[in-house]
Order: sequence, then structure tokens, then C-alpha cells
Amino acid sequence: MSYQYRMYNELVDLWPVASDPHDYDKEAEIWRKALRDKLGPGRHRLLELGIGAGDNLSHFANEYQATGVDVSEKMLELSRKRNPDVVHYKGDMRTIRLGQKFKAVIIHDAISYLTTEDDLRNTFRTAAAHLEPGGVFIIAPEWYKETYKQAALYHVSRNQNGSQMTFIQYETDPDPSDTTMQCLMLYLINENGKLRVEQDLHTTGIFPMKTWDKLLIEAGFQVEKRPFPIYEDGREAYLLVCTYSGWFD
Ligand SMILES: C[S@@+](CC[C@H](N)C(=O)[O-])C[C@H]1O[C@@H](n2cnc3c(N)ncnc32)[C@H](O)[C@@H]1O
Repeated sequence: MSYQYRMYNELVDLWPVASDPHDYDKEAEIWRKALRDKLGPGRHRLLELGIGAGDNLSHFANEYQATGVDVSEKMLELSRKRNPDVVHYKGDMRTIRLGQKFKAVIIHDAISYLTTEDDLRNTFRTAAAHLEPGGVFIIAPEWYKETYKQAALYHVSRNQNGSQMTFIQYETDPDPSDTTMQCLMLYLINENGKLRVEQDLHTTGIFPMKTWDKLLIEAGFQVEKRPFPIYEDGREAYLLVCTYSGWFD
């Protein structure tokens, strides 16, 4: 049995243990402000790549004509329920071409699943291919090589349908010489006294800040860094608010 990426497949029913839309109240406000600053008033067309369950997007989806893409059909099902007015497509953010243009493309924490420079390049090309010249591309890398200090531990307990659930996430960079991190997840489940543990492992990316800047500029973006102070461990984080020059149109 593979213990990788189970959260987006056979363990998808446990997603609400790991994540609730209210967990994003603070950061969604920062996303909302950045989008409004750049786009101005109006129900503009917005595309989220790696929409997941759409928990973050649900805070501002109704302000835009929103479209979401995800590689996992099961996560798309969750987002369709959470965001019924959003148009959903199955696809990989590194390769998908919808043949449509948007005013904004955003990638929330799904950006962490890009683990090589080619992944970044290809995804930035996808964003550019879906943006009007002058359109805005916003991402929020979770980690940078320069500022990584120590592993992060996150846990939350919730009651779900009468069961007690605890989700534990341990994120670490075991080999500082490469561009990947490992994220170990455990679910401790108490269903009416019947105990169960599920585990999951995700490989995610970690790059130097200069790699983000260099590859975004190469793809035709002007990059503005805005503080993104959302992490409990106080780590340095930025919303990268990028404007598309229309370079490749
Ligand atoms: C942490 S979840 C996103 C949760 C989302 N931000 C929310 O608020 O609900 C990460 C998502 O990225 C998706 N994903 C990972 N790699 C992808 C890729 N190459 N293309 C599209 N989606 C991808 C996964 O299927 C998963 O649904």
C-alpha cells in the first residue's frame, strides 16, 4: 500500500478534520485585499489552480466569476459542494490549457506540490497562458530555503459526526541540498470508542526566494512581495503578487 497523497484520494472523507473554511479567515482576508487592490471593483474572471476543497476560495468566490482546477476528482467533489457557483475542471496545473483568459490566476497552498524548477516553470506558463495582459497572478510559497529554520508541527482536534478526530502534521526538510520537503500526516480517530490511526506522506517543494523571482520574471511577470504573517511559528512568508506583462501573447 502506498502511504503517499492519501488525503486527496481514499482518505478524502477525513479532509474536514484537517481543514475547515474558518481556519482560513485571517489569510483569506489578505488574499481578498490583494486581489481587490490589483483588480479594482467588479465581478472579474478568476482562476484558482489546485483549488482543493475550495476552503480558502469560499471566502471570496462569490465576488468573482470563479473557475477552479484540481488534479484530484475527489477534492473537486468537495469544492463543488462548498462552491456551487464555481466552474470546476479536472487537470494538472503544470499542463492544463482551458483556452480561456482570466483577470486573475491564484494558487493557494497547492503551490507547495511543485517540487522541481521545471514544475515551477511549467505552472508559471500555465498562469501566463490564462491571463490577459496586465492580469494578476498571486501565489504564497509556504517555505523558502533561506528562511527555513526548523520542522513545523501542527495539530488540531475536532468532533465530526459524533467521532473525535485529531490531525497531526509534521513538516521537515530532511535533505537541505535538494528542493523537496516531507510532510507526514497522522489522523487519530476515535469512532465511539473504536480507535484507528491513518497515516499519509506528501513530498512538497522548497526553493530559494531568488528561484521564485527569477522564474517568475522569465515567465513575463513583475513581482511584488507583500508580507503574509499567517504562520503560528512566525516564519517569514510573502504573498507574491505578480503582474503579467503579456510577454508571450
Ligand atoms: C492543500 S490542498 C488545497 C486546499 C485548498 N487551498 C483549500 O483551501 O481547500 C492541495 C491541492 O492541490 C492539488 N494538487 C496537487 N498537485 C496538483 C497539480 N499538479 N495540479 C493541480 N492540482 C494539484 C491536490 O489534489 C489538492 O487538492
